[in-house]
Amino acid sequence: MNPANTPIAPPVALGADHAGVALKAAIREALEAAGHPVMDLGTHGTDSVDYPDFGAAVASAVAEGRAAFGVLVCGTGIGISIAANRNPAIRCALVHDVTGARLTRQHNDANVIALGARMTGVEVALDAVRTFLTTPFEGGRHGRRVQKLSPGWSASP
Ligand code: RB5
Repeated sequence: MNPANTPIAPPVALGADHAGVALKAAIREALEAAGHPVMDLGTHGTDSVDYPDFGAAVASAVAEGRAAFGVLVCGTGIGISIAANRNPAIRCALVHDVTGARLTRQHNDANVIALGARMTGVEVALDAVRTFLTTPFEGGRHGRRVQKLSPGWSASP
């Protein structure tokens, strides 16, 4: 809590390819209006670009602590979520609705959310991002499972 006794909005890194740039702009506007410091890592236009570049940039920002959470958008959300998850510090969830956004925070402690601009409408996407950023991890049995997603863990023979 800050001195005004209101919750502090965590910093968020944003990234998208050309297919996701319009939805990213809507998300950026909503997050800034809600008081989040926003780091927009591009893309910034509709020229065709490669989604792995932006998934990796947001993943690095979160992994290095420059942002608390990441939000990624491409056409389906699939490619950019795969890209982000190549960073071992990242648990990126591809989400299509508010329920997925809530559960991936509660159960997976996801630190990045990926959305598909060709799959999910803007209002649902904005609700999902708000839910993602305000839902705490439940811990408990989920903590043990998330631990097994860490780079150091390996299954017993
Ligand atoms: C770009 O056309 C599209 O392939 C990309 O946005 C994404 O959907 C990939 O997974």
